[in-house]
Amino acid sequence: MTALPHFTAHNGFSLPALGLGTYALNGDAGADAVATAIGAGYRLIDSAFNYENEGSVGRGVRAAGIDRSELIVTTKLPGRHHARAKAPASIEESRSRLGLDATDLHLIHWPNPSQDEYVQAWESLVDAQQRGIVRQIGVSNFLPEHLERIERETGVRPVVNQIEVHPYFPQDEQLAYHREHGILTEAWSPLGRAKELIEERVIAEIAAAHGISPAQTVLAWHVARETVAIPKASSLEHQQSNLAAATVALDTAEVEAITALGRADGRLFDGDPATHEES
Ligand SMILES: NC(=O)c1ccc[n+]([C@@H]2O[C@H](COP(=O)([O-])OP(=O)(O)OC[C@H]3O[C@@H](n4cnc5c(N)ncnc54)[C@H](OP(=O)(O)O)[C@@H]3O)[C@@H](O)[C@H]2O)c1
Repeated sequence: MTALPHFTAHNGFSLPALGLGTYALNGDAGADAVATAIGAGYRLIDSAFNYENEGSVGRGVRAAGIDRSELIVTTKLPGRHHARAKAPASIEESRSRLGLDATDLHLIHWPNPSQDEYVQAWESLVDAQQRGIVRQIGVSNFLPEHLERIERETGVRPVVNQIEVHPYFPQDEQLAYHREHGILTEAWSPLGRAKELIEERVIAEIAAAHGISPAQTVLAWHVARETVAIPKASSLEHQQSNLAAATVALDTAEVEAITALGRADGRLFDGDPATHEES
């Protein structure tokens, strides 16, 4: 098994360049997919309270039989649990559902700015980390103004911000902000959900030049930009080919040609963190 590249955050915590997304991997099939992925070499697993699959993800992790210290199991605190009165129990509940001694990486799923409770959510994650039930803490879908506010009010900077990134929505400015502050970028929907994006001519041409698939080309683009991609893949075939993409090197011109697919309205849905509210 080839070693994956790793990227390192401001506090020394590092993530492999590729992890497994698990949205819609539920029930027994979800547990099997997670165990299969770990067997294939995945060490970073995504999940969320709202995916209703923490139980299956935990079961897959245990079935894989890999030393716990090698795995980074992630989950996310939902918007309806941000308040101080709800967040601690929600964080503990996620750990129970996963069936783990501690969650390796716990994120705030969305900032929900109009609700304005994300600082309380962050304080609860900071407490949970101090209590040892969560190892590393981060956020998802946070804009720079949200990142700055939680650090200003608590003195604690997240290690990760998981955001929408794919060639239709490359987010150059936000990635530069993260780099400057030592915050790792995780890319959600890194394949743009593998629809028209992987049919793009420029991607097909670069794929042909390297003898790889279009999906692998998109994942190699993420790695070249030092973004951790977490593609969801249910079959072993897709899981293996996605993992292999982490060691494909694209040159600068290829990376730029793919980034040029970006467009202002490139989001997959109306998921602007300034306005999107997710319970
Ligand atoms: N933080 C957030 O707000 C947020 C939002 C959205 C998603 N996420 C996370 O990000 C993960 C990934 O995003 P996503 O699931 O929306 O989209 P995605 O990973 O971009 O695309 C998933 C789709 O691509 C297919 N696929 C995977 N590998 C492929 C390959 N090698 N060739 C062709 N098709 C392939 C999958 O099919 P098969 O299953 O058949 O392989 C699935 O239909 C989620 O699962 C979730 O964990 C987080």
